[in-house]
Amino acid sequence: MSMKPLIDPYLRRIAYVRVSVTDRCDFRCVYCMTEDMEFLPKAEVLTLEELDRLCTAFVRLGVRKLRLTGGEPLVRRNVMSLVRSLGRHLESGALDELTLTTNGSQLTKYAHDLRAAGVKRINVSLDTLDSRKFTAITRWGKLEKVMDGLEAAKDAGLEVKINTVALKGVNEDELDRLIAWCGEEGFDMTLIEVMPMGDIGGERRLDQYLPLSMVRGRLMEKWTLEESDYRTGGPARYFTVKETGRRLGFITPLTHNFCELCNRVRLTCTGMLYMCLGQEDSADLRAPLRASEDDDLLVEAIREAISRKPKGHDFFIDRRQGRPAVARHMNVTGG
Ligand code: GTP
Ligand code: 5AD
Ligand code: SF4
Repeated sequence: MSMKPLIDPYLRRIAYVRVSVTDRCDFRCVYCMTEDMEFLPKAEVLTLEELDRLCTAFVRLGVRKLRLTGGEPLVRRNVMSLVRSLGRHLESGALDELTLTTNGSQLTKYAHDLRAAGVKRINVSLDTLDSRKFTAITRWGKLEKVMDGLEAAKDAGLEVKINTVALKGVNEDELDRLIAWCGEEGFDMTLIEVMPMGDIGGERRLDQYLPLSMVRGRLMEKWTLEESDYRTGGPARYFTVKETGRRLGFITPLTHNFCELCNRVRLTCTGMLYMCLGQEDSADLRAPLRASEDDDLLVEAIREAISRKPKGHDFFIDRRQGRPAVARHMNVTGG
């Protein structure tokens, strides 16, 4: 079997796989889901052993970074067995980073085990420090639980990056406070533009959308943002906030497209591979996975999928557009 690295038609090397281990979540964030979301029947979801086999195939094809996402990855039953098992690729040196993006609600339970399995840093989604607003945004979430989770992460020695989706009229007046708080806590932070993914009912994308080019200008009136060439392999562009010494990243799919540097693909919990977050095209890896015990068919299917990776997304949000740019919700691919 050929183990040549994965190179797409635009000569981008695919080295980062984001794995959504479940589409379920204990929150219902207004920009991500509707309140009455329907989830996949359990029978369609790959077992943890199958997810391990898929991830391992990618590692053998030169993938250096794995990120578990959801829904909320830590609500998948027994997820730690997958994390521990994937940790072997860190030990062997085949993988540079095993990490996850979480809403933080289960960290009191899992932070120490994650660190012990080789996870060094995690991204935690948090859009506000105001508990009423927090419940308004997440519908079902309790801020206190996430704060306890963050404390547990610090205790366990996990580095934390806070992901904040910039929401017009909701948290735009709170960004200074969040930056200061991240400084006090020793967390890096990334601001994210809301992306038009999935029909979210009453809440309108245009009402939520806050261009970060504008936000950055405003932040620069208060903070000294020093350009930095720090990279994580993700899409954020980083600055160092001189006053706090922490990094502040901007993820700007709408105001500044970063697709030319895209190094990632996304695997869903049913074994679909999405070659771009902002496109509908996908490839089924479950069938070749189950068709034989060796990985030849699987590797062939992965290579074929990568050969179809598009140049980029065409997200845009405007007044005339009634439908989201991409029909599936964010929890299918975990962002
Ligand atoms: P780091 O490893 O810390 O750089 O993380 P990351 O930014 O790669 O991952 P994270 O899960 O924290 O994602 C933050 C945000 O970036 C989420 O809203 C993702 O949807 C978004 N994101 C990640 N990759 C892409 C991408 O290829 N395209 C777009 N449009 N958004 C992305
Ligand atoms: N646009 C931008 N970011 C989103 N997230 C969820 N839905 C959206 C959206 N429509 C974020 C979450 C989390 C990350 C995985 O994606 O807040 O930080
Ligand atoms: Fe759950 Fe994350 Fe979606 Fe919020 S953004 S509902 S925490 S998957």
